[in-house]
Amino acid sequence: MKVRLNKFLSECGIASRRKSEEYIKEGRITVNGRTVLELSLYVDESTDLICLDGEKIKPMAKVYFLLNKPKGYITTTEDERRRKKVTDLINTKQKIFPVGRLDYDTTGLLLLTNDGEFSNFITHPSNGIIRTYSVSLNRKLSEEDRLTLMKGIMLDGRKSKFASIKYVTKNIYDKLIVTTVEGRNHFVKRLFDRVGYKVTSLKRTDYGIFNVKGIPKGSYRIITKDEIEKFYKTYSN
Ligand code: URA
Repeated sequence: MKVRLNKFLSECGIASRRKSEEYIKEGRITVNGRTVLELSLYVDESTDLICLDGEKIKPMAKVYFLLNKPKGYITTTEDERRRKKVTDLINTKQKIFPVGRLDYDTTGLLLLTNDGEFSNFITHPSNGIIRTYSVSLNRKLSEEDRLTLMKGIMLDGRKSKFASIKYVTKNIYDKLIVTTVEGRNHFVKRLFDRVGYKVTSLKRTDYGIFNVKGIPKGSYRIITKDEIEKFYKTYSN
């Protein structure tokens, strides 16, 4: 069956779709010995020889992990400062990558996979998949600022907001549970910063149907095929 080259690459677990496109643009992909620069070329994996840096790309089994990320790990797969990487915490031979980002000092739920299509689907804001964060602030959140953040403020030239902001406990106003469908870099910290608060601790507890409960910090579990099917059933219209 013919599929677009960028889709084929992300489905093989080479990288996310965006990263795969970079590989194509950099001239690192060949199809039947010819360097290909078109993202939308159709290929047939049963008849075409597709290589990255001269090496044949083999389709891989899809794997999915749910990690409870500790502080002090980066979510990129390469780092010139040689800091610890989240992928160091997962025992697999597959070439996996984190789904979206969590900051160095953010803890909690992080998905890792070699399935670029899954990563694209879950991260795209138009699919409305909710991320839930436990947030501590440097001071009490006023009701006025809470409402401002729910209505939305401009960030990167776009109206940006939380879907909900709740207090964890009655009468404690600096510990919150916030939800959002946004995955832009430092989204939670930047929104609070805009209204004059500093996030002092940040943990992601849920991402769509996935939850970090019961997984110790630094540990992970395998997400099953059944869960992935359930995920798609839940979010596909
Ligand atoms: N928002 C942030 O500011 N940081 C994270 O790590 C995740 C969401």
